[in-house]
Amino acid sequence: MSSTLITNIGQLVTNDPDLGTLTNAALIYTDGKISWAGAKSSAPSADERIDADGGSVIPGFVDSHTHAIFAGDRLNDFLARMNGTKYASGGIKTTVEATRAASDESLRNHLENVVTEFIEHGITTFEIKSGYGLDVETESRLLRLAKEFTEETTFLGAHVIPSEFANDRRGYIDLVKGSMLEAAAPFAKWIDVFCDNGAFTRDEAKEILTAGVAKGLRGRLHGNQLGDTGGIELAVEMKLASVDHCTYATDSQLDLLAASGTVATLLPGAEFSTRSPYPDASRFFEKGVKVAIATDFNPGSSYIASMPFVISIAVRDMYFTPEQALRAATLGGAQALGRSDIGHLGIGARADIVLLEAPSFEYLAYRPGSQLVKQVLVGNL
Ligand code: NIG
Ligand code: FE
Repeated sequence: MSSTLITNIGQLVTNDPDLGTLTNAALIYTDGKISWAGAKSSAPSADERIDADGGSVIPGFVDSHTHAIFAGDRLNDFLARMNGTKYASGGIKTTVEATRAASDESLRNHLENVVTEFIEHGITTFEIKSGYGLDVETESRLLRLAKEFTEETTFLGAHVIPSEFANDRRGYIDLVKGSMLEAAAPFAKWIDVFCDNGAFTRDEAKEILTAGVAKGLRGRLHGNQLGDTGGIELAVEMKLASVDHCTYATDSQLDLLAASGTVATLLPGAEFSTRSPYPDASRFFEKGVKVAIATDFNPGSSYIASMPFVISIAVRDMYFTPEQALRAATLGGAQALGRSDIGHLGIGARADIVLLEAPSFEYLAYRPGSQLVKQVLVGNL
């Protein structure tokens, strides 16, 4: 047994219960799990000691939506958008071409750098989707490599229809449900579909998700990013863990989400990077919808690895309060991944802990672009 005391915490956020804020606090973790939290004056002793120096301490961020495994970049798409071009799903094919051509070693090295960046920005759990392979061999290769870095891997063979199937939609859907799913399943925990304009319809998404669930995968969905094509209704109908983007969500769709257990994962970096209109998160909270935020890290629509930056966009442009944004980036992400051991610092939680160079967590929104993450502790490392 080995225990560590973090003391001199100016503000501790445990998310248990509610935001669970304590001032002048201390926290102890034992063998990778939280074992005590309270006033620093009454803290028991422990084997090791970390001094937070009056800074704040929060749960590690849970990034429930990334497309972190790919090769190449899409700088030209970004430059064109900044020049007035609208974002569309077609750019994904450029990344598919580069990714298919990349070796395992270069994909692994790139992903290792991305993961280092995630951790430097306080992300202690991250999901990774495939979706830039779109053939049997590359999709399973991407998932096999992603699984070296996280247990939260997602099969997204249904990202877009690849060029070689441009005239055979049916053929591609059958491939995804058949041999591609077969090859991907051993390396994937989740299955996702991009249900939107320029990608897959609601009926196609249902067919593909149903096949994935029958294979033992759990479902999640990209929905309502570029338009309203029925993704939210499908996610609720299929009791999916999360429906992601929700940029276009009507009041009645928010009522459906609130009544279901499905989390709405908002992706502020996507609207920011594609210069698209932001959804107003206060509508989601007023309706009682469970909300997460995630980076959506990908080269096309959100080349952003910083959860603090995402929090600052969520607060400034999407009308989250700082509390709502912090909870959405921690507990919300955990709910979107169906996890209860992360996203909070209650007794027994995994000791995924972020020490901030800031007197309170609100500084994450208040000081965009500054590196406030001072130290990151990951319980399972
Ligand atoms: O979440 N929406 C679909 N997939 C990604 C974008 C991928 C890309 O443009 O490369 C997203 O925004
Ligand atoms: Fe995405």
